[in-house]
Amino acid sequence: MRIGIVGAGHVGAVCGACLAAIDHDVTVIDVDHERIRTLREGRMPFVEPHLEALIARGRARGNLSFDVDPAALSDAEVVFLCVNTDSRPDGSVDLSPLESAVSTLAAIPGLDAVLVNRSTAPVGTAEYIRSVTADARGSAMRVAVNPEFLAEGTAVRDFLAPDRVLIGASDERSARALTDLYRPIVVRDLPADVGARVGAPTDGEDVPFLVADPASAELAKYAANGMLAVKISFINEISAIAEQVGADVTRVAEAVGLDARIGKHFLRAGIGWGGSCFPKDILALQGMAETRGLSARMLRAANDINGDQRTWVTRALHARFKTLFGRRVGLLGLGFKPGTDDLRNAPALEIASQLAKANVKVRAFDPVVGDVPLTHRDRIEVVADVEDLANGSDALVVVTEWPQFRELDLPALRRRMRTPLLLDGRNLFEPEEAVAAGFAYVGVGRGVANTYPLPVNALPSSAGDGKPDDEVPIRTSDVA
Ligand code: UGA
Repeated sequence: MRIGIVGAGHVGAVCGACLAAIDHDVTVIDVDHERIRTLREGRMPFVEPHLEALIARGRARGNLSFDVDPAALSDAEVVFLCVNTDSRPDGSVDLSPLESAVSTLAAIPGLDAVLVNRSTAPVGTAEYIRSVTADARGSAMRVAVNPEFLAEGTAVRDFLAPDRVLIGASDERSARALTDLYRPIVVRDLPADVGARVGAPTDGEDVPFLVADPASAELAKYAANGMLAVKISFINEISAIAEQVGADVTRVAEAVGLDARIGKHFLRAGIGWGGSCFPKDILALQGMAETRGLSARMLRAANDINGDQRTWVTRALHARFKTLFGRRVGLLGLGFKPGTDDLRNAPALEIASQLAKANVKVRAFDPVVGDVPLTHRDRIEVVADVEDLANGSDALVVVTEWPQFRELDLPALRRRMRTPLLLDGRNLFEPEEAVAAGFAYVGVGRGVANTYPLPVNALPSSAGDGKPDDEVPIRTSDVA
């Protein structure tokens, strides 16, 4: 099929590369000339595993192109809208990029495509897009919704081997066009090299393909992100309790997550969610509820807990040092999660701002981020390696759980530090290994390691004589 994509950001570039990979003819347009030039030159504007290879594949086969001219979409059968829908300061969604994209499409002479909104936008947006096209053309274009469920860092795989494909359509032709378009993905019939690249299963049941009304599809997108955010905030709330009662939230999450009704995913306690999606989508969903007189208590609580969680590092430092003035802290990771260089709403930036206010000197190392936004340059010094980060530091803080940090030589790092404190904001390390390396270790929700000696009265002693020990003190030294 001939496919057009408006927007060469994360959602649009991945969508374009993946649809070309299943043999559609794809043209991606963007108003950002620099971005289009970058993509045409085979360079990536952001980090996303497999994207570069798939773009190269599509360009070599001649079924993926990038353009700045909307007329390049004039013979498209389906056009995906993949533009940014950021929050305004009041939390409402700024639909102006979407409006402008739709007006541009409506003005393309002869364009007879189904417009498919893939940008996350409030319920009613599909209907609004229809009305914009009707105003511009005299008769409405066909409009459908196809929410994206791509997570940064796994976006290509999420597209090609998804948990489900969701369509919101109110007319037969749009639903049929999208059914045809997604067939190779739904029946798991990807080109062999593509499937192998992303590790997509080749057998098993078809991918669930759901067709709903547009409003339900639009709401489902927000509800999915809302549920994930609530799940994280829930375990973070439990983590705060765990710290007080001397439990380890990682053990709690494991036990809770093995209940098939609950599931193990998104139960990793930490310094809170960030990124370009959860913060804006939770606010937008809350706004959709509140403007209709509903109170959206669950979403508000999730947001509040997330705000508390982002102060965890500062609180942990205050608990261990008499004053933070003049302390040197090294952040391990800057991105809001591993596998991406995205700093939008990254907890690292907020933590650095809090620490800067307390006169802490903040340095950071990230495997893929070499610089911070202008607004934070006076608060964070980015260094080139972890050894440099450790030099003279009073604390290392795991902000992003890059897997390669697990391989760090902890004893060697500890020797470079002024004070051997490891604040593990993502529970990446086992407390015992950090303590064995000479660190005072503090994890999120790890009350057992952080605060309390572990009472083992109910357990046999290490000597195996069946007599209870009083306590096994695994509390690390106080570094204050
Ligand atoms: C999220 C959703 O996971 C995608 O399904 C959705 O399509 C996307 O938003 C979107 O709306 O476009 P993403 O923002 O890339 O994807 O990142 P996630 O992997 O969901 O992580 C979000 C944040 O939650 C990160 O800061 C991560 O560190 C944090 N997180 C995640 C936790 O703190 N604990 C967990 O157990 C899981």
